[in-house]
Amino acid sequence: MSVISTKRDGDILVVTADNPPVNALSAQVRAGLADAMAQASTDDAVRAVVIRAAGRTFFAGADITEFGKPPMEPSLPTVIDAIEQCGKPVVAAIHGTALGGGLEVALGCHHRIAAASAKLGLPEVKLGLLPGAGGTQRLPRVVGVAEALPMIVTGAPISAAKAQQVGLVDRLVDDAALDQEAIAFARSVISDDHPVSSARTDKLAETPPGFFDAYRTANARRIKGQDAPQACIAAVEAATTLPFAEGIAKERSLFKSLVEGDQSKALRHVFFAERAAARIDNLPEGTQPLPIARVGIIGAGTMGGGIAMNFLSAGIPVMMVEREQAALDRGVGIIRKNYDATAAKGRIKPEQVDQAMGLLSTSLDYGDFADCDLVIEAVFELMDIKKDVFGKLDAICKPGAILATNTSYLDVDEIAAATSRPEWVVGLHFFSPANVMRLLEVVRGARTSPQVMATAMALARRIGKVAVVSGVCHGFIGNRILAARTREANALLMEGARPAQVDQVVLDFGFPMGPFQMGDLAGLDLGWDPEKSSSATIREVLCERGRRGQKTGKGFYDYDEKRNRTPSPEVDAIIADFAAKSGKEQRMISDQEIRERLFYPMVNEAALILEEGIAQRPSDIDIVWLNGYGWPAWTGGPTFWADQVGLDVIVAGLQTHADRLTDFRLSPLLQDKAAQGCRFNG
Ligand code: 3HC
Ligand code: NAI
Repeated sequence: MSVISTKRDGDILVVTADNPPVNALSAQVRAGLADAMAQASTDDAVRAVVIRAAGRTFFAGADITEFGKPPMEPSLPTVIDAIEQCGKPVVAAIHGTALGGGLEVALGCHHRIAAASAKLGLPEVKLGLLPGAGGTQRLPRVVGVAEALPMIVTGAPISAAKAQQVGLVDRLVDDAALDQEAIAFARSVISDDHPVSSARTDKLAETPPGFFDAYRTANARRIKGQDAPQACIAAVEAATTLPFAEGIAKERSLFKSLVEGDQSKALRHVFFAERAAARIDNLPEGTQPLPIARVGIIGAGTMGGGIAMNFLSAGIPVMMVEREQAALDRGVGIIRKNYDATAAKGRIKPEQVDQAMGLLSTSLDYGDFADCDLVIEAVFELMDIKKDVFGKLDAICKPGAILATNTSYLDVDEIAAATSRPEWVVGLHFFSPANVMRLLEVVRGARTSPQVMATAMALARRIGKVAVVSGVCHGFIGNRILAARTREANALLMEGARPAQVDQVVLDFGFPMGPFQMGDLAGLDLGWDPEKSSSATIREVLCERGRRGQKTGKGFYDYDEKRNRTPSPEVDAIIADFAAKSGKEQRMISDQEIRERLFYPMVNEAALILEEGIAQRPSDIDIVWLNGYGWPAWTGGPTFWADQVGLDVIVAGLQTHADRLTDFRLSPLLQDKAAQGCRFNG
């Protein structure tokens, strides 16, 4: 069966794409479209054309797997030009998503009709690209720069209703009626003038003076260090200053340099890595996820409340159990406050708050978990308490219920051993704030069953998380690598670096926050016990002096009322005192050394994690750090970045710094790969 087929409906030629799963515009699809347009132009019996797609969506964009390979004719811009110059009206009938090259095809059509549930967007920027088939020139001509620029620079899609409102879509119809309506619509416009997107200038004339500079200034922080958003702005600006053909040439040259650049390679890696992470190794064929209709949560603290919100928002009833009423009331109060705040920002409707809260039940009795399909434990991080809780759950929960722990560091196998059904026990490691952070580590215990794993991964998708499978070890994938960075950040202070210098190196890398800023934000007293404090670490001394982070107005930094930070002479003195006592000589440390000392040990830890089989594949580690710790996506994550730097360079750097590194053991896997000139990915 051909990926493009044509069929006549009277005087209308209906062109159908069928290239599952998402109708990507592969070379075959482009060739088929070009042939169909040639047929439409030359066949006198055809008076108008409808372009539609079979399956779940209109074209979801160029075929991303073709990037980085030799180009194949016909190019997408050529095909779109052929559509625009067909000489007969062409109507795009859009359902599902019209994304990237898919929306560019629709913009080449003379009319667009969309199913009410459709979404339209130019997400190329998320792949480190710009729309390279005329999107930066045609979209502003059709909807004006004020609407087009944010769509192109953020990559966020818009609803069909919004598309109609801004003039991108001519008509909205019920999903089921799309095909029929598209043909009727095409027939109704046969004798009209055909609006040609590239020839329009009316909307461009509305561009306010200084619009682009103002946009650059307003978004400077968000797009710092990233090539694609800057190029997107330049290309859209060109639409307002250059004739169409020259604007297209500018778009082409910007696209070419982006697609060949490291940032786009990294972001394309991330796209496929995210999808690969959803796959579980060694899953027996045919393993089906179990239905989860009701979830129990133990502990209404920081994590329990956030975890509950994920399920409530997805329409799944939650039973939350605490040890005392006051904790329960506090937890429920925070959940409601969070929902109210989201509603106040207009992100959800007030009735959605009531809907979500209506799905929440609370209790002080574990017996109320009896009918739950999944129970997630989020009590204090103490093994004895966890074991006690799991023993009780084992006695109460129905057979076939999944018992999950949100532990950050504890041994999931030891927790599972407190039950008579370790195959039903799994780690579900959410990140704080659990209602916001996209990452979920699904921790596979030695005896966790494949079906439990499949259920956890499917559920993660249902609640909008990016899930990654991790084996059992201290800190799992994410926190274990974080520990490697933290060890070195602390060691660097003892050797003469200042918190602000270390943080700046991490900020310059593209993280939103440095390690000491992060500590101050989270609170330095997390896990600190004043009774047992013995002034043994810099952190302990800071806590003892009331420097417990942002919440006390001081931590590694001093903070003003607006939470602006300044370096603290008191902290410098504490560090110098520690260094003197331990006989460490304080020296000037270059930013380059700080960068290597922080990031190379993280790569080494990633390699250890891989050789121990804790992570299923290198790209999973990237997904963890991108979604849980703010690693800048345009560098691809720790393993992709390491590949770009060169594993031999990293091993040499680790060997240079080896004497200064804390608890360091070079990974044999990393050493071997470096010696053989191999990479982590591909
Ligand atoms: N090219 C190649 N493969 C693609 C693809 C694309 N554009 N979009 C999706 N796929 C593949 C995925 O890799 C996945 O493969 P797998 O099953 O082997 O893992 C499969 O299609 C299904 O994708 P999802 O799991 O993402 O399916 P969803 O239903 O969750 O989402 C979607 C569908 C919203 C369309 C989502 O796939 C998506 O956002 N795709 C990318 C859209 C995009 O970025 N388009 C722009 C491309 S760049 C471009 O067009 C350049 C142009 O300007 C010249
Ligand atoms: P928290 O102290 O805010 O909340 C724990 C809650 O559990 C308290 O409300 C407490 O009353 C309740 N509780 C304690 N024992 C109980 C019992 N036997 N039965 C019922 N309720 C009980 O702690 P937080 O931060 O929510 O952490 C919970 C778990 O989540 C820990 O295992 C922690 O390691 C993990 N975690 C924490 C993260 C964080 O950033 N805070 C991130 C990821 C995981």
